Amino acid sequence: MSVYEHKPAVAVFHEAHEAGIAAAKLIAELLRAKPNAVLGLATGSTPIGLYAELVRMHREDGLDFSRATFFNLDEYVGLPREHVASFHRFMREHLFDHINAMPDRTFIPNGMAADLQAECRRYEALLREYGPVDLQILGIGVNGHIGFNEPGADLNGDTNIVTLADKTRKDNARFFDNLDAVPTSALTMGIASILRARRILLLAFGEAKREAICKLMSASVSPACPATALRGHDNVALLLDAQAASALDAPACP
Ligand code: GLP
Repeated sequence: MSVYEHKPAVAVFHEAHEAGIAAAKLIAELLRAKPNAVLGLATGSTPIGLYAELVRMHREDGLDFSRATFFNLDEYVGLPREHVASFHRFMREHLFDHINAMPDRTFIPNGMAADLQAECRRYEALLREYGPVDLQILGIGVNGHIGFNEPGADLNGDTNIVTLADKTRKDNARFFDNLDAVPTSALTMGIASILRARRILLLAFGEAKREAICKLMSASVSPACPATALRGHDNVALLLDAQAASALDAPACP
C-alpha cells in the first residue's frame, strides 16, 4: 500500500450549519474525554458556524476550554494583530473572546515577526513541544489549498512562508478594503505539520468547493492540489454540505 492510499470518511449534511454543529460535538466529546487536548484551528467563513456552536456549548453547557491548547494554521504576513482581516482578530472575535481559553496556550503564527524564518522555526518547535494536535480542523481553498499551502507546496513541508496565489488573494479580498490591501504572503503550518495531527476534520461548503473536494478524494496525489496529501493520513473525515459533495459521484472531477 502506498503512503497515499487512505480514503477520508465522508459525511454529507443538508445544510452547512448542521456540519458545523456535528464538528462542534466531536470537539466537545474530545474535550470531555481529554480536557488538555490540543486543537488545531482554521479560519475563513467555513468554521464560523462551528465556532459559534462551541461558544454556545461553553455558555449553556459549561464546555470547559481552560486546559486545552490551540494552534491556528496560518496568518498573513504584515498584518497587525488588530487589523480587521488578521486571523488573530478573527479568532478572538469568533472564539477566543467568548470561551475560557488560556491566552498562553493559544498559538497563532506571528506575521509581524522581524525574522519570519525564525518565526516558522519557533512555531514548529511549539507544535513539537505541545503537540501532536489531537484534532485538526481544516477548511479548503477553491484551488485545493489547506492552511495557506498553495498549489506547488512541498507535501513534506513544515511551517513556512508562502506566497499567496492570485486566486486566494481574490477569494479573501472580501475581508479587505480592496484587492491591493490583501497581503501577498503568509505563514502557514506545512502539509507535514498538518499531517502529524492524530485526527483531521475538513469542512467544506458550497458549489465553489466541489472541484477541490472531488480532487482531494480522487485526483493523483500532487502538489498541484495540496489537499490530495490528506490521503496520506489514516484518520481524516470530510464534513460537507450537499453542494460541496456534489461532484463526488461524478465520473471525473469538474
Ligand atoms: C484561507 C485560509 C484557509 C481556508 C480557506 C477557505 O485561505 N487560510 O485555512 O480553508 O481560506 O476559506 P473559506 O472557508 O472562507 O472558504
